[in-house]
Amino acid sequence: MAHSPHTSPSPRVIRAPARLSGRIRVPGDKSISHRSLMLSALAVGESRIEGLLEGEDVLATAAAMRAMGATIARGDDAVWRVQGVGVGGLLQPAQALDMGNSGTSTRLLMGLVASHAVSATFVGDASLSGRPMGRVITPLARMGADITSSPGGRLPLTVRGLVPSVPIDYELPVASAQVKSAVLLAALNTPGITRVIEPVPTRDHSERMLAGFGARLTVEQGPRGRVIALEGEAELRPQSITVPGDPSSAAFWMVAASVVPGSDVVIENVGLNPTRAGLVTALRMMGADIAELAPRTVGGEPVADLRVRHAALSGIEVPPDLAPSMIDEYPVLFVAAAFAAGATVARGAEELRVKESDRIAAMRVALEANGVTTVEHEDGLTVHGNGGDKIAGGATVATQLDHRIAMSMTIAALHARDSITLDDASPVATSYPAFYQQLAELSGETA
Ligand code: S3P
Repeated sequence: MAHSPHTSPSPRVIRAPARLSGRIRVPGDKSISHRSLMLSALAVGESRIEGLLEGEDVLATAAAMRAMGATIARGDDAVWRVQGVGVGGLLQPAQALDMGNSGTSTRLLMGLVASHAVSATFVGDASLSGRPMGRVITPLARMGADITSSPGGRLPLTVRGLVPSVPIDYELPVASAQVKSAVLLAALNTPGITRVIEPVPTRDHSERMLAGFGARLTVEQGPRGRVIALEGEAELRPQSITVPGDPSSAAFWMVAASVVPGSDVVIENVGLNPTRAGLVTALRMMGADIAELAPRTVGGEPVADLRVRHAALSGIEVPPDLAPSMIDEYPVLFVAAAFAAGATVARGAEELRVKESDRIAAMRVALEANGVTTVEHEDGLTVHGNGGDKIAGGATVATQLDHRIAMSMTIAALHARDSITLDDASPVATSYPAFYQQLAELSGETA
């Protein structure tokens, strides 16, 4: 079944509310949702997934796994049931796999295809078609896959898997959980032991979930970093999974409640895996008032409800070693910085240039147009904050097919003198379909 992403632009005008208050529950974690579908599709038997993120990116993964033989259905109880085909059992898809806007779907599925007797063509939207895939092509080619890509290692590209594929030891040249996961997923159907060496730790959902599904996997600290070793020709056992709420979605409300005076918001069910929680650390360094309520474990991940109240923020130097654990949160951190006293300097975040958009340039342009002073660096941004006053607003922002630019500039508009217009808010549906509905609830409006 072909996945059809949003097609026509949907402009949106955002006005500042008086304050934000109430409780909301953020949707399921995007990274864990993708992996839940992929690993369930490779288990033998039926898995159940509760709390799956039903955004366009994850639906693209579901469609691709169906196209390669898995049976995937959502029940009226909102529980997703997946009948897997077993490791080694993926079928040849009849058509190109449409990845829409989703880099995670593309890179992880390229890994799966690389060690199966499958040839799959990956296509995507204009944003995804501009993103570098060389970082996964290199290790997967070493494992034996034959990959032909568009110039610059870009989509559309075709992966012809090799069976049996060849185990490798691979040291990640970029801190990327997607590259790590692509190699580990290829390793599932590769005889022998595949090792990934990770000099800088990145989100570890793949490791946790592969172990949970019964793969033989070890993680050790070596002289060059974390060494993840996976024994191939794995047999995965079906699981019952509860997906925790997405900290990258909660991030918008953490910043919104911090910067809009009088706000008091409880964000329920937020995943706080330490490889994802860097924004909480950074905001607390800035003076944010974030309390963790009812800490618990959901689906093997630490989770809490976060109560966030308005607070006076101060500019900081963002520790570069936080970058991997908050890589998707920089755009909204820049918004927090716009309302802080003094400058916030974020360096060591060059990966932002190859996300759904060039997020350093996109946020610099969007903030400047709305009255915020910034300085662009090759690897980050300095934002000069105004000490908590309203920013000017009044401009139209190009969201560039990037959900996080759209949502971050929506949060900026919540404390602006004049409304901010997004040229296209439709990308929000890739990761957070209920975002504007929840904003209306917290603003005290009916949606
Ligand atoms: C993700 C990893 C990160 C992140 C993306 C999701 C994942 O990308 O930005 O939103 O689920 O593995 P990189 O691996 O490119 O850093």
